[in-house]
Amino acid sequence: AAALQGRLVALSITGGDPARIVRLRSALARDAAIRPFLEALYAPAPEVLAPADDTIICRCEEVTAGTIRATVDLGAPGPNQVKSMLRTGMGPCQGRVCGLAVAGIIAARKGEDPQVTDYYRIRPPLKPIPLAELAGFAPGIAAE
Ligand code: FES
Repeated sequence: AAALQGRLVALSITGGDPARIVRLRSALARDAAIRPFLEALYAPAPEVLAPADDTIICRCEEVTAGTIRATVDLGAPGPNQVKSMLRTGMGPCQGRVCGLAVAGIIAARKGEDPQVTDYYRIRPPLKPIPLAELAGFAPGIAAE
């Protein structure tokens, strides 16, 4: 599915053959049809989504699930406030490891859908680059 999505994106950007786009979308829909079954069959264990209080969630800052829950109980409404209070997401990985887990724990504690729980505010250093620069990327140059 990822390869099909990649081809679809490339064709969409370059204004590719519409018939080919339709075929790719059809193939993608076929591949994606099994997704609900796989998600049901390989659903993560409940303790993965609701870790025990002593489980370290933010490894960089050594913050546990219990501390995050306690911070929500004190009134922290979302990941950015938890970040301000506990430094979650401020370690060397900048929240890449803990971000989803922190947001999930907050959502569960607040009894809200994880889709509506905020996420860490993305902060610089960000390095946006033009698509043309990506398109002109010569493999091997960055591999040094
Ligand atoms: S694990 Fe939380 S900032 Fe790295």
